[in-house]
Formats: sequence, C-alpha cells, structure tokens
Amino acid sequence: MSDTLGFRVNVKNHLEIGGCDATELVAQFGSPLYVMDESIIRNSCRLYKNAIDKYYGGRGRVLYASKAFSCLYIYKLIAQEGLGADVVSGGELYTAMKAGMPMEHIYFHGNNKTPQELELAIANNIGRVVVDNVFELDRIEAVAAAQNKTVKILFRIKPGIDAHTHSFVQTGQIDSKFGVALETGEAMDIARRAAGLAHVEVVGVHCHIGSQIFELAPFTLAARVMTEFMCDARDKLGITMTELNLGGGYGIKYLLQDDPVEYDAYIKAVAGVVTEVAQARGFSLPYIMMEPGRSIVGPAGITLYTIGAVKEIPGIRTYVSVDGGMGDNPRYILYQSEYSAVIANRAGEPDEAVVTIAGKCCESGDILIKDIKLPKAEVGDILAVMATGAYNYSMASNYNRIGRPAVVMVKDGEAKVVVKRETYDDIIKNDLL
Ligand code: LLP
Repeated sequence: MSDTLGFRVNVKNHLEIGGCDATELVAQFGSPLYVMDESIIRNSCRLYKNAIDKYYGGRGRVLYASKAFSCLYIYKLIAQEGLGADVVSGGELYTAMKAGMPMEHIYFHGNNKTPQELELAIANNIGRVVVDNVFELDRIEAVAAAQNKTVKILFRIKPGIDAHTHSFVQTGQIDSKFGVALETGEAMDIARRAAGLAHVEVVGVHCHIGSQIFELAPFTLAARVMTEFMCDARDKLGITMTELNLGGGYGIKYLLQDDPVEYDAYIKAVAGVVTEVAQARGFSLPYIMMEPGRSIVGPAGITLYTIGAVKEIPGIRTYVSVDGGMGDNPRYILYQSEYSAVIANRAGEPDEAVVTIAGKCCESGDILIKDIKLPKAEVGDILAVMATGAYNYSMASNYNRIGRPAVVMVKDGEAKVVVKRETYDDIIKNDLL
C-alpha cells in the first residue's frame, strides 16, 4: 500500500520531508539515503517528557534506547532535549561519551557486558549499570573495588509477561536470555547478594517486555508486578529501592492500518498503577524511567532508493530492484517486517500494480517489501520506504561489501549530513594484508 504516513507531497507531486524535496535530497547526497526529520524526533522526546510531568509530577526520566539509532548527533540532540540514554555496548557508550552526553544519565544494559566494557563504564562514572545476572554482579563488584568506586545498579527482571509481538523481540517471559526471573526467586536472590557487596548500591529494578507492542495491558501489568517486587524487597531484605525502569517497546505505525497507542497513554496508565501499589503498600513513589527507542526515531526516518530494474515474471510476480536492501534494512529478512513505501517523484499518483521490492544483495531473501501496491514503477524512479528511522541504520551491515548509506538530518528545509556515506576505501580500511 502506497502511503506517505503523514509526510507532505509538494506541488511537483514529490514527497517532502522536513521541508526538503526527497528527489532533490537524492540529487544532492546520492542514493540510497537515510533521511531523518529532526522536528519529529524532538517532538517525540517532548511528548514523553511532558507526559511524565503531567501524569507523574515530573518524578521520572525518559531514556532514549540508543540501539534504535546511534551516532554522535543523536546523543547530542537527545541530551539537548533533556533525555538520558540507554546503551548496550562499549561502542554505544563510547559514542555517547564522545558526543558529550552527561554520564549520570547513561544506563548501561546488556546480558553479557565484558570486563573491558565495565572498566570503561565505571572509570567514566556511568550513571547506572543494569545488572543482568549474578556473574555480572560479581564482575561489577570486582571492577568497582579495583577502581575504588561505588556503582549504582538496577536489576534486569523478567516479570513473566508475554507481550504479543514477534518472538525475536519478546523479552519479558521466563524463557529469555535477559535478566533474572521473579517466579523462581532468582530476582530476590540477586538483590540479597548485592546488598552484601561493598562497591555496589542497589537503586532499583528494570524490565523490558518486548518491542513494537500495541497494547497497554502488558505495560500496566509489568508496572504492577515490578512495584510489588520493590515493596517485597523492602519487606524481606530491608533494601529501599527508588528507581523503577520500565523499558521501552511502544509500537509505531509502519502501515496505514497500524494503530499505535498515544505515547501519553502509556505514562498515564503506568503512573496510575505504580501510585496505586505504592500507596497500598506504604512505599515512597519511585522515580519512573521509560526507555523508548523505536518510537523516538522510527517515524522520523525514511530511506530513499533508486529503482534500477523492473522485472515482470508473467503470472507470478514483478520484482522492482533498488540500489540498497538487506544491508541497510535487514528487518524483512530477520522478522518479515512490513513497510509502506511511495514513489517519491510521483507521490500523488494512484496505485496500480502489486510489486515486490527487492534489494541488490546476492541473496533471494533480500526483499524490502513483499507485495506492495504502487503506481507503475519505472527505472530511475526514487522509492521512499517509510518509517525506517529505527533499527535500520543501527542494524546495517556491509554484506557484499556494499557501503552503508549516508544519514541526512532535515529540518525547516535545511539538510545536513550527520553520518557520511561509506566509500570503497572505508570498506577496506581494516584489511591489513
Ligand atoms: N530498553 C531495553 C532494555 C531494550 O532492550 C530495548 C530494545 C529498548 C529499551 C527499546 O525498545 P523500543 O522502544 O525500541 O521498542 N531490532 C528489533 C528491535 C529490538 C529491540 C531490542 N531492545 C527490531 O528491529 O524490531
């Protein structure tokens, strides 16, 4: 289905983003090209932030889950907007540090942080480490002791909630590689162990139940279970935790028929449940952290490609081949994710044929969109795939030694390259012999 998902079509019948004509962006910066509308990103940051002010008296913080899209510019932008960041690797942490992100607002996640990553994080006074397991807890204690520091920690907990989303991005259920389980007592055990350590300070708990979720109920259930756990930890262990980090996972619109929950509604619902449980158990209201990734950057991005071949197999399928593919967007091959697209240079034209958009990698599964209705595609047309701002650039690879596209940020008719296109020399730069 050809749909601009809210982006404007200008008088020339061209798709517009951030006040820039998509076809002119390709003429200026080349193809394929990631384009992100800065105002949409900033608006999303503000929506979340304002909702915490409105529904929870500002007792919380929004942390941008930077795995969705990570580069120097985005950390600078989100820091300006007053958000913190979730990082999951030394590389994301290093990028955030180089961007000048305040360390106290960086949360370090991941199910197997290496000693080197922990050393980097602790040496630079990371805000919080979200501890995944007991082995990691002991590693943190050792690194912190060696550096004569105390590290503030949260525990990653599996609240036992099944969110209705793709199984690869479900994380709240007991059969998950992430975190410690509530129902087996593992979560209480790790909290007990941590309470006895000298170089960690237990400040809270964290959960993340999955991604691209369209319902409120799993979030409110998670909030309830987690707040109860904080109260139980106080009663059983005498530990008073003050931070409740409820992760991300808020769904966005990829297709016209997708109907995501308003960002406000999540916070409103969750704040109500946390307040109710805390009051019932005589517990001070915890700070709430939320970690949206996809919903901050996803809707802001599009990817522009040039169509190079239109291959009609009579009675079977028409393949429209573009100059990118699974290297810049592996989400179809990984999760069979669906996208909408438009022909950017003829954006207002009616759809007329169902085609399949294929990438240029040597791989039959290298598809971007299967069976999409578009105006008749011609060689040289510019195809815009919508809502590619999250988990596209950040998951891109150099498969087939194809360079990653540039990322251009647009705002009020101005465009700037924030990540440059990879050249052939970039491709061979680590090859030594
Ligand atoms: N917090 C934690 C601890 C997470 O693991 C994640 C995502 C988030 C926050 C942000 O979730 P979001 O708001 O973006 O849904 N590559 C997959 C998505 C993997 C998500 C991993 N964790 C995709 O392309 O759909």
